[in-house]
Amino acid sequence: MTKQYQITLLPGDGIGPEIMAVTVDVLKVVSKQYDLDFTFEEACIGGAAIDQIGEPLPAESLEKCRRSDAVLLAAIGGYQWDNLPRHQRPETGLLRLRAGLGLFANLRPATILPQLIDASTLKREVVEGVDIMVVRELTGGIYFGQPKGIFETEKGEKRGVNTMAYKESEIDRIVKVGFEIAQKRRGKLCSVDKANVLDVSQLWRDRVTAMAPNYPDVELTHLYVDNAAMQLVRDPKQFDTIVTGNLFGDILSDEAAMLTGSIGMLPSASLGADGPGVFEPVHGSAPDIAGQDKANPLAQVLSAAMMLHYGLNEPEAATNIEQGVIQVLERGYRTGDIMSTGMTPVGCRRMGEALIEVLSSEQVLGFRF
Ligand code: IPM
Ligand code: MG
Repeated sequence: MTKQYQITLLPGDGIGPEIMAVTVDVLKVVSKQYDLDFTFEEACIGGAAIDQIGEPLPAESLEKCRRSDAVLLAAIGGYQWDNLPRHQRPETGLLRLRAGLGLFANLRPATILPQLIDASTLKREVVEGVDIMVVRELTGGIYFGQPKGIFETEKGEKRGVNTMAYKESEIDRIVKVGFEIAQKRRGKLCSVDKANVLDVSQLWRDRVTAMAPNYPDVELTHLYVDNAAMQLVRDPKQFDTIVTGNLFGDILSDEAAMLTGSIGMLPSASLGADGPGVFEPVHGSAPDIAGQDKANPLAQVLSAAMMLHYGLNEPEAATNIEQGVIQVLERGYRTGDIMSTGMTPVGCRRMGEALIEVLSSEQVLGFRF
């Protein structure tokens, strides 16, 4: 029987609409092959929403997302909105979406593909075989803690404040996700904190340690965030699954992404306890190349694969897309960000067409993300 899914598309800003268009075309091809019936509905977010409606996440957009089975988001932000007051910035729209849908778990895989090893700035022997999953807490910590703001002291001096705070329940639910993902991967979990200085991190570490006996099959380690940042470039293969708070996860996931050569290749999934997840590339809106058909659409396409995997429980269709991406790289197609000598340079649209050719030819290489 045909399965029906309602998908909300949030193309956002910059290169967002281009990479989204390619991804929707890919999903249409896959839907025919796997007998899935997707209904796509677009909504606005970020700068595009500020321009059209005056706020970065209009209530109607959030409502459409709530009503759907999954949300596919491209990217938000651009120079023209950078000087607006914080509540009107594109980034605020993204944070409201995460909070509004209760998306506390952000999964950011950083897997190096054999075809792209030479695109990494690190030595081949350091990055070959890297396969890391960063599990980032997404609705708490210093991003949301109170008090926050820019206040005036009694002496009339300005003082900027943010608060890094976690309740036990917030720590427990994300750490549980970390342990469970580690169980499904190579059984290693590294919890990253700053417990040598921060009380909030001490509580984090205490909770992680208390939960460890429930997962005897997982080898647990703890690292301070400064050391973790260093170890990621020194010897990234020591990592399997990393679980950490919102701010540390933001920073470490960019670092882990770059191990793989290009942030233009990496997808992410943001999940809550129930309701639709949001699936988006790790990279931003790249306003410098927007509208020029230069963007790499593959992180967006792989985000659609994560949507099929984690959001819609359609692992076969997901795997098909992932293998198609490998195959298209194997055939030598490269956008500018992953270009190397001897490969065929293509733009965003052509990369999408090449992928559709591959998917239609049903060749697979047997690689699993
Ligand atoms: C990310 C981004 C966002 C974040 C910004 C755009 C608000 O950097 O998703 O990693 O800081 O979480
Ligand atoms: Mg970030």
